[in-house]
Amino acid sequence: MKQIVPSFCSSSLFISLLLAIILCSSPTQSIGQDVLNDICSKTDDPSFCLQTLKSDPQTATTDLLGLAEISINLAKTTVSETHTFVKSQLAQTTDPKLKAQYSQCNDSYDDATGNVDYANERLKAGDYGGVSSAASACMDDVSDCEDAITGAASSLPQQNKKSNEVCLMTLVIANRLLEKN
Ligand SMILES: *[C@@H]1O[C@H](CO)[C@@H](O)[C@H](O)[C@H]1NC(C)=O
Repeated sequence: MKQIVPSFCSSSLFISLLLAIILCSSPTQSIGQDVLNDICSKTDDPSFCLQTLKSDPQTATTDLLGLAEISINLAKTTVSETHTFVKSQLAQTTDPKLKAQYSQCNDSYDDATGNVDYANERLKAGDYGGVSSAASACMDDVSDCEDAITGAASSLPQQNKKSNEVCLMTLVIANRLLEKN
């Protein structure tokens, strides 16, 4: 019992400090639920979009530019997870037909990773049109993999869907940034 009190105190102190830092460092207007709903309504899977964006606690306090950054980070994670999965399948499979399909997907996800990195770079440069193009190119890459995979009994189609959705979220947010400028 003795240990609980001090650790509770120090953690609430930590949270207060964190809140103070967040509040002081973001004087810009935070995104409302209606804006989030509007953004996600333009994607293929609005509930996945909302849930994924809200999985980052910063979504509650950030502005549109910050949301673009969050979305690009989510895209980076999801695309990278899918790429890792593809590479592991490629290393495991002995079926030449499947190997060719996964090899195509490996190339596609190599490109998709490059495009997500490029979107990040364009965002930092304030080039929202560039972010939009890079996000769109990411969706094309995912679609190339999706087209290549015909008989794979794996979770790849599901992961392609997720990867497509996070790149689409980035596209929608970038386009909204473009409208506001
Ligand atoms: C995946 O693709 C990259 C780039 O095209 C290539 O360098 C790498 O060797 C490939 N990985 C496998 C496991 O084939």
